[in-house]
Amino acid sequence: MAKIDLSNISHSYNPNDPNPVFALNPFSMTWENGNRYAILGPSGCGKTTMLNIVSGLVRPSAGRILFDDKDVTDLKTEDRNIAQVFQFPVIYNTMTVYENLAFPLKCRDFSKSKTDERVNSVAETLNLKSFLNSPARKLTADQKQLISLGRGLVREDVAAVLMDEPLTVIDPDLKFRLRRNLKEINEQYKTTLVYVTHDQNEAMTFADNIIVMSEGEVVQTGSPKELFERPNTTFVGYFIGSPAMNLFESEPSSNDSVKINNTLIKTNSNLSKLKTKNIKLGIRSEFIKIAKNQNENLVEVNVQKVEDLGNYKLITAKMGSLTIKSKVTRETEIPNQNVKLHIPAEKCCVYEDNKLI
Ligand SMILES: Nc1ncnc2c1ncn2[C@@H]1O[C@H](COP(=O)(O)OP(=O)(O)OP(=O)(O)O)[C@@H](O)[C@H]1O
Ligand SMILES: [Mg+2]
Repeated sequence: MAKIDLSNISHSYNPNDPNPVFALNPFSMTWENGNRYAILGPSGCGKTTMLNIVSGLVRPSAGRILFDDKDVTDLKTEDRNIAQVFQFPVIYNTMTVYENLAFPLKCRDFSKSKTDERVNSVAETLNLKSFLNSPARKLTADQKQLISLGRGLVREDVAAVLMDEPLTVIDPDLKFRLRRNLKEINEQYKTTLVYVTHDQNEAMTFADNIIVMSEGEVVQTGSPKELFERPNTTFVGYFIGSPAMNLFESEPSSNDSVKINNTLIKTNSNLSKLKTKNIKLGIRSEFIKIAKNQNENLVEVNVQKVEDLGNYKLITAKMGSLTIKSKVTRETEIPNQNVKLHIPAEKCCVYEDNKLI
């Protein structure tokens, strides 16, 4: 396993063009040894490019990559000691499942007993044990992808296992179980796992660190909790969470308060240094509740819709022309009229030009 440093990396696929387009804008970050990372963002934002730069399939236009402080920028993929799992299965059809899983070990002269031990352990984790002697081509698409995954996990000595949307072809139930298995593998073997996905649930349930990307930019890295509670841009607030964060156009009113729709909302932010009028107040629907005995940060709303979503209710309400969403427990009584919602100051995020202040 290795600590991986990406230092001032950027990439353009057309660097010699008079107007090069940057698939990745300059960024630096460190992936610590043994952690689980997810690279999350919409299609085309540069996730695969970032992963391929680490594995060596793409050489960055600028910047250096270091594994345990050793510069590997000029090393080929095969010399980087990386395991990579792609979106679609890559298997050897003429071999058995066992031979497929053993292949990375055979290439590195592992002993027969060590190979047996590793292959059996990975096959057990991935529910492939009863297929070990079957020809790999006879397996379903799901199972073939498990073999690809298994080949990535079979070596304990890799710098990192890089996975690019590896569970796309896997059905949802199995996906859930596999993500849990991957977590267990990470905890047991301390393998650095990097997982690319455009699905926030997948990222939030798998990783302890999430790298959120948008249009070639790393917009935030943090734990699921940090991304949920303190999104540092409105994009992250919108992209993470279901429903998306409530975001209201606001007017600053004092050093710690804003007005939305003529209602004063106190925040814990210092608003004394605002430079523009492009201010938004962000608040998660999870933190907005029906008011009880609070006497400030109250908004009067007209409830438009209440959806029963199993373990909670989602209220959609109007405050003038603004729509506000609040998630409440199943048991919450929602009055028919004169509904007041409470917006807790400590949960308010204030954005200037879409960046958290
Ligand atoms: N080989 C290539 N040549 C030229 N442009 C490319 C190449 N690969 C990717 N791009 C462009 O670089 C940008 C980032 O692409 P990338 O594949 O890294 O995105 P992604 O986040 O992995 O998307 P997806 O979720 O669809 O897989 C996109 O605009 C894409 O069109
Ligand atoms: Mg991709």
